[in-house]
Amino acid sequence: MKNTKALLTASLLSLTLINAPTMAAVKTIVLPPDGVQLKPSPLPGYVKAQGNCVACHSAEYMLYQPPTAPRAYWDTMVKRMKAVFKAPLNDADIPEIVDYLAKTYGNEQPK
Ligand code: HEC
Repeated sequence: MKNTKALLTASLLSLTLINAPTMAAVKTIVLPPDGVQLKPSPLPGYVKAQGNCVACHSAEYMLYQPPTAPRAYWDTMVKRMKAVFKAPLNDADIPEIVDYLAKTYGNEQPK
């Protein structure tokens, strides 16, 4: 009896191992719908954000952030994009981009 259980465990294990690559191949990745544009603004950071922030993902990512997010949050976010994902950001452009984001998507939005 003990042997049957061991055999069952072993065959289950090999089944899992055999199936693993197949399962990985079938897995689908759902990307957020494309085409969400940055909210237009007369702020200089708007144009800079268009040039720097929507190459890898749409502006939907900004929409999903809490509207209560303060300036420091956006500052960290922009710097994270550069440090972690290698966004080709010019350090000199960061303050204006952060200004635009805080005033357009964060807690500095006009009420
Ligand atoms: C080099 C590619 C790249 C560029 C350029 C880029 N991002 Fe991202 N960004 C990513 C990736 C990858 C993720 C997804 C991270 C994850 O899923 O955790 C992301 C996620 C985000 C998120 C979602 C929140 C989060 O923490 O995941 C926000 C908001 C965001 N980016 C804002 C920006 C802004 C603002 C800029 C411009 C300064 C920017 N991104 C430029 C790659 C990029």
